[in-house]
Amino acid sequence: MMRHLFIALFLMMPLTAMAAGGASVPFHHETNLGNQASLQRGAKMFMNYCSGCHSLQYMRYKRIADDLEIPEEVMESNLMMTRGKINDTIQGTMPKEQAEQWFGKAPPDLSLSAREHGADWIYSFLLTFYVDESRPSGVNNLVVSNTAMPAVLAPLQGYQSLKHEEEGESEGGAHGGGHGEPQFELVQEGQLKPAEYRAAVADLTNFLVYVGEPAKLVRYSLGFKVIVFLLLFTALAYMLKKEFWRDVH
Ligand code: HEC
Repeated sequence: MMRHLFIALFLMMPLTAMAAGGASVPFHHETNLGNQASLQRGAKMFMNYCSGCHSLQYMRYKRIADDLEIPEEVMESNLMMTRGKINDTIQGTMPKEQAEQWFGKAPPDLSLSAREHGADWIYSFLLTFYVDESRPSGVNNLVVSNTAMPAVLAPLQGYQSLKHEEEGESEGGAHGGGHGEPQFELVQEGQLKPAEYRAAVADLTNFLVYVGEPAKLVRYSLGFKVIVFLLLFTALAYMLKKEFWRDVH
């Protein structure tokens, strides 16, 4: 009886997590903070493609180096695009006023962006830039319509155009008003194949989730140990119970 209850509770855990996600964006990102290589690639990508405009004002280079086990020399020589010291917080390279003048909007700090919007949102945002000649930057975005952010990852992704809505609807029209995945068409190839680009954006999203709550990394490894302990303990208790009751039956 008790065992069934435990099993039921265990099975429900991912469900509650999913319910908290609340997805209104087209793509889902499976956050994996246990994948250190992915976090390292994400950090590199952030420094190369994002830190020109966006700061991470609550994060220091040193913390990233320590948490992700990146040697400090590598951090300093390869990843620190902005001038600064290893103990500094991460500041965008472009002065705010300059950025405002160019984009009409200052690029926001991204320290807490993944916490504010959720991982699915970040992932979808970075996947859904599409060509739109009516925009000053030449692109628009499905998640943030009329975004002021240019398609900075286009060298990797290439350019895609958005196909019209009706085509998506004929597939998934059964659920009231539900849209299928948006249909994009690559009109100019980038350096990466579409699957490689999605993987790169997944790394970047992982990294931004980590940045939003670096303590999660510690909790994650602790959580794993706790679960292993609980499983061992359950097995032990079960064997003990069998041992105790053997003579009674
Ligand atoms: C050339 C400057 C520039 C670069 C480089 C850049 N961005 Fe942006 N980004 C912006 C601007 C400007 C906005 C504000 C857009 C708006 O609000 O319309 C923005 C907005 C965002 C937002 C929405 C933030 C929020 O909380 O609303 C996210 C997320 C984001 N950028 C992620 C990234 C990532 C990840 C990269 C690196 C791949 C990146 N950006 C590179 C200029 C830039």
